[in-house]
Amino acid sequence: MTEKALARIPLISGNWKMNNTHLEAIQVVRKLCLLLAETEAKATMPMFESRPVQISIHPPFTALRSVQTILESEESDVILGAQNCYKEQKGAFTGEISPIMLEKLNVGLVILGHSERREIFGETDELVREKIDAIMPTSICPIVCVGETLDERQSGGWVSKISGQVEHAVKGLNRKFLPKLVIAYEPIWAIGTGLNASAEDAQEVAKLIRDCIGEIFSAGSSSDLARQVRIQYGGSVKPQTAGIILEQQDIDGLLVGGASLVPEEFAAIVNCARMAPNE
Ligand code: PGA
Repeated sequence: MTEKALARIPLISGNWKMNNTHLEAIQVVRKLCLLLAETEAKATMPMFESRPVQISIHPPFTALRSVQTILESEESDVILGAQNCYKEQKGAFTGEISPIMLEKLNVGLVILGHSERREIFGETDELVREKIDAIMPTSICPIVCVGETLDERQSGGWVSKISGQVEHAVKGLNRKFLPKLVIAYEPIWAIGTGLNASAEDAQEVAKLIRDCIGEIFSAGSSSDLARQVRIQYGGSVKPQTAGIILEQQDIDGLLVGGASLVPEEFAAIVNCARMAPNE
Protein backbone atom coordinates (compact mmCIF):
# COMPACT_ATOMS: atom_id res chain seq x y z
CA MET A 1 0.00 0.00 0.00
CA THR A 2 1.15 3.55 -0.66
CA GLU A 3 1.76 6.03 2.13
CA LYS A 4 -1.41 7.77 0.96
CA ALA A 5 -3.45 4.68 1.63
CA LEU A 6 -1.81 4.17 5.00
CA ALA A 7 -1.75 7.65 6.42
CA ARG A 8 -4.36 9.90 4.88
CA ILE A 9 -7.97 8.77 5.21
CA PRO A 10 -10.03 10.48 2.49
CA LEU A 11 -12.21 13.31 3.78
CA ILE A 12 -15.42 14.07 1.87
CA SER A 13 -16.96 17.35 3.01
CA GLY A 14 -20.30 18.86 2.09
CA ASN A 15 -20.34 22.66 2.11
CA TRP A 16 -23.99 23.68 2.18
CA LYS A 17 -23.17 27.40 1.94
CA MET A 18 -26.24 29.63 2.63
CA ASN A 19 -28.79 26.90 1.97
CA ASN A 20 -31.31 25.05 4.16
CA THR A 21 -33.20 26.44 7.14
CA HIS A 22 -32.78 24.37 10.27
CA LEU A 23 -36.07 22.63 9.44
CA GLU A 24 -34.91 21.73 5.94
CA ALA A 25 -31.54 20.68 7.34
CA ILE A 26 -33.23 18.14 9.61
CA GLN A 27 -34.87 16.47 6.61
CA VAL A 28 -31.68 16.48 4.55
CA VAL A 29 -29.54 14.99 7.35
CA ARG A 30 -32.06 12.28 8.16
CA LYS A 31 -32.14 11.27 4.51
CA LEU A 32 -28.36 11.41 4.25
CA CYS A 33 -27.84 9.21 7.34
CA LEU A 34 -30.19 6.64 5.85
CA LEU A 35 -28.44 6.62 2.47
CA LEU A 36 -24.96 6.49 4.00
CA ALA A 37 -25.93 3.55 6.20
CA GLU A 38 -27.23 1.71 3.13
CA THR A 39 -24.10 2.29 1.06
CA GLU A 40 -21.85 1.47 4.02
CA ALA A 41 -23.62 -1.84 4.55
CA LYS A 42 -23.12 -2.61 0.84
CA ALA A 43 -19.48 -1.56 0.91
CA THR A 44 -18.71 -3.96 3.74
CA MET A 45 -20.12 -6.97 1.86
CA PRO A 46 -17.32 -9.47 1.10
CA MET A 47 -17.42 -9.02 -2.69
CA PHE A 48 -16.61 -5.32 -2.41
CA GLU A 49 -13.26 -3.89 -1.49
CA SER A 50 -13.82 -0.72 0.45
CA ARG A 51 -11.67 1.63 2.46
CA PRO A 52 -12.42 3.92 5.40
CA VAL A 53 -13.64 7.41 4.60
CA GLN A 54 -14.33 10.42 6.81
CA ILE A 55 -17.40 12.47 6.01
CA SER A 56 -18.27 15.98 7.18
CA ILE A 57 -21.23 18.25 6.52
CA HIS A 58 -21.11 22.00 6.96
CA PRO A 59 -24.58 23.48 7.46
CA PRO A 60 -25.17 27.20 8.11
CA PHE A 61 -24.69 28.32 11.74
CA THR A 62 -28.45 28.40 12.37
CA ALA A 63 -28.76 24.68 11.62
CA LEU A 64 -25.70 23.44 13.54
CA ARG A 65 -27.53 22.57 16.75
CA SER A 66 -30.33 20.71 14.97
CA VAL A 67 -27.90 18.77 12.80
CA GLN A 68 -25.71 17.96 15.81
CA THR A 69 -28.71 16.53 17.65
CA ILE A 70 -29.66 14.30 14.74
CA LEU A 71 -26.12 13.06 14.10
CA GLU A 72 -25.78 12.17 17.77
CA SER A 73 -29.16 10.46 18.03
CA GLU A 74 -28.42 8.44 14.87
CA GLU A 75 -24.97 7.58 16.26
CA SER A 76 -23.63 8.72 12.91
CA ASP A 77 -19.91 8.94 12.11
CA VAL A 78 -20.50 12.05 10.02
CA ILE A 79 -18.48 14.92 11.43
CA LEU A 80 -20.31 18.17 12.08
CA GLY A 81 -18.57 21.05 10.31
CA ALA A 82 -18.93 24.83 10.16
CA GLN A 83 -18.35 27.16 7.20
CA ASN A 84 -16.45 29.92 8.97
CA CYS A 85 -15.57 31.39 12.34
CA TYR A 86 -13.92 34.48 13.80
CA LYS A 87 -10.33 34.85 15.00
CA GLU A 88 -11.26 35.80 18.60
CA GLN A 89 -12.80 33.58 21.27
CA LYS A 90 -15.24 36.20 22.60
CA GLY A 91 -15.94 39.90 22.86
CA ALA A 92 -17.51 42.85 21.07
CA PHE A 93 -17.60 41.41 17.54
CA THR A 94 -21.23 41.76 16.49
CA GLY A 95 -22.40 39.02 14.18
CA GLU A 96 -19.38 36.78 14.56
CA ILE A 97 -19.09 33.20 15.88
CA SER A 98 -16.06 32.02 17.85
CA PRO A 99 -14.08 28.76 17.81
CA ILE A 100 -15.16 28.01 21.39
CA MET A 101 -18.84 28.34 20.46
CA LEU A 102 -18.31 25.81 17.66
CA GLU A 103 -16.32 23.50 19.90
CA LYS A 104 -19.21 23.37 22.38
CA LEU A 105 -21.48 22.16 19.56
CA ASN A 106 -19.06 19.30 18.84
CA VAL A 107 -18.02 20.85 15.56
CA GLY A 108 -14.96 18.93 14.33
CA LEU A 109 -13.99 20.84 11.19
CA VAL A 110 -14.32 24.42 10.03
CA ILE A 111 -13.85 25.79 6.51
CA LEU A 112 -11.61 28.88 6.53
CA GLY A 113 -10.79 31.27 3.70
CA HIS A 114 -13.34 29.91 1.23
CA SER A 115 -13.05 31.92 -1.99
CA GLU A 116 -16.57 33.28 -1.46
CA ARG A 117 -15.42 34.71 1.87
CA ARG A 118 -12.28 36.10 0.30
CA GLU A 119 -13.98 37.53 -2.83
CA ILE A 120 -17.37 38.67 -1.49
CA PHE A 121 -16.49 39.55 2.11
CA GLY A 122 -12.93 40.76 1.55
CA GLU A 123 -11.14 38.24 3.77
CA THR A 124 -7.40 38.64 3.38
CA ASP A 125 -4.63 36.06 3.69
CA GLU A 126 -3.73 37.72 7.00
CA LEU A 127 -7.23 37.34 8.45
CA VAL A 128 -7.42 33.73 7.27
CA ARG A 129 -4.13 33.08 9.07
CA GLU A 130 -5.40 34.67 12.28
CA LYS A 131 -8.43 32.38 12.11
CA ILE A 132 -6.17 29.35 11.61
CA ASP A 133 -4.15 30.42 14.66
CA ALA A 134 -7.36 30.70 16.71
CA ILE A 135 -8.66 27.29 15.63
CA MET A 136 -5.48 25.22 15.94
CA PRO A 137 -5.32 25.06 19.77
CA THR A 138 -8.98 23.91 19.91
CA SER A 139 -10.25 20.42 19.10
CA ILE A 140 -11.46 21.66 15.68
CA CYS A 141 -9.49 21.07 12.46
CA PRO A 142 -9.38 23.76 9.78
CA ILE A 143 -10.08 23.16 6.09
CA VAL A 144 -8.17 26.05 4.54
CA CYS A 145 -9.25 26.93 0.99
CA VAL A 146 -6.86 28.15 -1.69
CA GLY A 147 -7.38 28.59 -5.41
CA GLU A 148 -6.87 30.74 -8.47
CA THR A 149 -9.15 32.79 -10.74
CA LEU A 150 -9.59 31.96 -14.41
CA ASP A 151 -7.21 34.80 -15.37
CA GLU A 152 -4.57 33.45 -13.02
CA ARG A 153 -5.02 29.94 -14.42
CA GLN A 154 -4.68 31.13 -18.02
CA SER A 155 -1.74 33.49 -17.41
CA GLY A 156 0.21 30.95 -15.33
CA GLY A 157 -0.15 33.17 -12.24
CA TRP A 158 -1.73 30.26 -10.35
CA VAL A 159 1.62 28.99 -9.10
CA SER A 160 2.48 32.17 -7.22
CA LYS A 161 -1.11 32.76 -6.09
CA ILE A 162 -1.46 29.32 -4.54
CA SER A 163 2.01 29.10 -3.06
CA GLY A 164 1.48 32.58 -1.56
CA GLN A 165 -1.82 31.53 0.01
CA VAL A 166 -0.27 28.35 1.40
CA GLU A 167 2.72 30.24 2.77
CA HIS A 168 0.47 32.75 4.55
CA ALA A 169 -1.58 29.91 5.98
CA VAL A 170 1.24 27.82 7.44
CA LYS A 171 4.56 29.67 7.71
CA GLY A 172 5.56 29.93 11.36
CA LEU A 173 2.78 27.60 12.46
CA ASN A 174 3.79 25.28 15.28
CA ARG A 175 4.61 22.03 13.48
CA LYS A 176 2.65 20.03 16.05
CA PHE A 177 -0.52 21.41 14.42
CA LEU A 178 0.29 20.25 10.89
CA PRO A 179 -1.30 16.78 11.16
CA LYS A 180 -4.69 18.40 11.78
CA LEU A 181 -4.43 20.74 8.81
CA VAL A 182 -6.59 20.15 5.73
CA ILE A 183 -6.08 22.27 2.62
CA ALA A 184 -8.78 22.46 -0.04
CA TYR A 185 -7.68 23.34 -3.54
CA GLU A 186 -10.67 25.04 -5.11
CA PRO A 187 -10.09 26.76 -8.45
CA ILE A 188 -12.46 29.75 -8.28
CA TRP A 189 -13.47 29.28 -11.93
CA ALA A 190 -14.70 25.76 -11.15
CA ILE A 191 -16.89 26.64 -8.16
CA GLY A 192 -20.60 26.40 -8.95
CA THR A 193 -19.90 26.68 -12.68
CA GLY A 194 -20.11 23.06 -13.75
CA LEU A 195 -16.48 23.34 -14.92
CA ASN A 196 -13.98 20.91 -13.41
CA ALA A 197 -10.24 21.10 -13.19
CA SER A 198 -8.92 18.01 -14.95
CA ALA A 199 -7.69 15.28 -12.62
CA GLU A 200 -4.12 15.94 -13.85
CA ASP A 201 -4.37 19.68 -13.17
CA ALA A 202 -5.87 19.05 -9.73
CA GLN A 203 -3.03 16.63 -8.96
CA GLU A 204 -0.41 19.12 -10.19
CA VAL A 205 -1.74 21.79 -7.82
CA ALA A 206 -2.12 19.36 -4.90
CA LYS A 207 1.52 18.38 -5.36
CA LEU A 208 2.54 22.04 -5.50
CA ILE A 209 0.72 22.60 -2.19
CA ARG A 210 2.42 19.60 -0.58
CA ASP A 211 5.84 20.67 -1.87
CA CYS A 212 5.32 24.20 -0.54
CA ILE A 213 4.51 22.85 2.92
CA GLY A 214 7.56 20.56 2.73
CA GLU A 215 9.80 23.51 1.86
CA ILE A 216 8.39 25.79 4.54
CA PHE A 217 9.03 23.15 7.21
CA SER A 218 12.34 22.19 5.68
CA ALA A 219 14.18 21.60 8.94
CA GLY A 220 13.91 18.15 10.49
CA SER A 221 11.28 15.73 9.33
CA SER A 222 9.83 18.12 6.79
CA SER A 223 8.67 15.70 4.19
CA ASP A 224 7.03 13.49 6.80
CA LEU A 225 5.04 16.48 8.00
CA ALA A 226 3.99 17.49 4.49
CA ARG A 227 2.95 13.91 3.79
CA GLN A 228 0.51 13.99 6.69
CA VAL A 229 -1.45 17.02 5.46
CA ARG A 230 -4.67 16.12 3.70
CA ILE A 231 -5.45 17.98 0.49
CA GLN A 232 -8.97 18.12 -0.90
CA TYR A 233 -10.16 19.18 -4.32
CA GLY A 234 -13.32 21.26 -4.70
CA GLY A 235 -15.18 22.79 -7.63
CA SER A 236 -18.30 21.30 -9.29
CA VAL A 237 -17.58 17.80 -7.98
CA LYS A 238 -20.27 15.31 -9.04
CA PRO A 239 -20.59 11.54 -8.55
CA GLN A 240 -19.41 11.15 -12.18
CA THR A 241 -16.17 13.07 -11.61
CA ALA A 242 -15.33 12.15 -8.01
CA GLY A 243 -13.62 8.80 -8.65
CA ILE A 244 -10.93 9.94 -11.07
CA ILE A 245 -10.00 12.93 -8.90
CA LEU A 246 -9.73 10.76 -5.78
CA GLU A 247 -7.35 8.41 -7.57
CA GLN A 248 -4.71 11.15 -7.76
CA GLN A 249 -1.70 10.59 -5.55
CA ASP A 250 -1.81 13.89 -3.64
CA ILE A 251 -5.58 14.28 -3.39
CA ASP A 252 -7.11 13.03 -0.15
CA GLY A 253 -10.70 14.12 -0.38
CA LEU A 254 -13.29 16.44 -1.84
CA LEU A 255 -15.01 19.65 -0.80
CA VAL A 256 -18.44 19.47 -2.38
CA GLY A 257 -20.85 22.41 -2.71
CA GLY A 258 -23.95 22.04 -4.90
CA ALA A 259 -23.97 18.25 -4.98
CA SER A 260 -23.88 18.07 -1.18
CA LEU A 261 -27.36 19.62 -1.02
CA VAL A 262 -28.82 16.53 -2.67
CA PRO A 263 -28.45 13.58 -0.28
CA GLU A 264 -28.45 11.02 -3.12
CA GLU A 265 -25.61 12.81 -4.93
CA PHE A 266 -23.54 13.34 -1.80
CA ALA A 267 -23.98 9.71 -0.74
CA ALA A 268 -22.93 8.62 -4.25
CA ILE A 269 -19.77 10.74 -3.97
CA VAL A 270 -18.98 9.20 -0.56
CA ASN A 271 -19.47 5.83 -2.16
CA CYS A 272 -16.91 6.68 -4.86
CA ALA A 273 -14.45 7.46 -2.09
CA ARG A 274 -15.16 4.18 -0.31
CA MET A 275 -14.62 2.23 -3.51
CA ALA A 276 -11.64 4.17 -4.90
CA PRO A 277 -8.49 2.07 -5.20
CA ASN A 278 -5.94 2.36 -2.45
CA GLU A 279 -2.99 2.88 -4.78
P1 PGA B 1 -19.43 23.53 -5.91
O1 PGA B 1 -18.83 24.31 -4.65
O2 PGA B 1 -19.26 22.06 -5.68
O3 PGA B 1 -20.89 23.93 -5.96
O4 PGA B 1 -18.69 24.00 -7.12
C1 PGA B 1 -17.65 23.88 -4.02
C2 PGA B 1 -17.27 24.84 -2.92
O5 PGA B 1 -17.41 26.04 -3.09
O6 PGA B 1 -16.82 24.41 -1.84
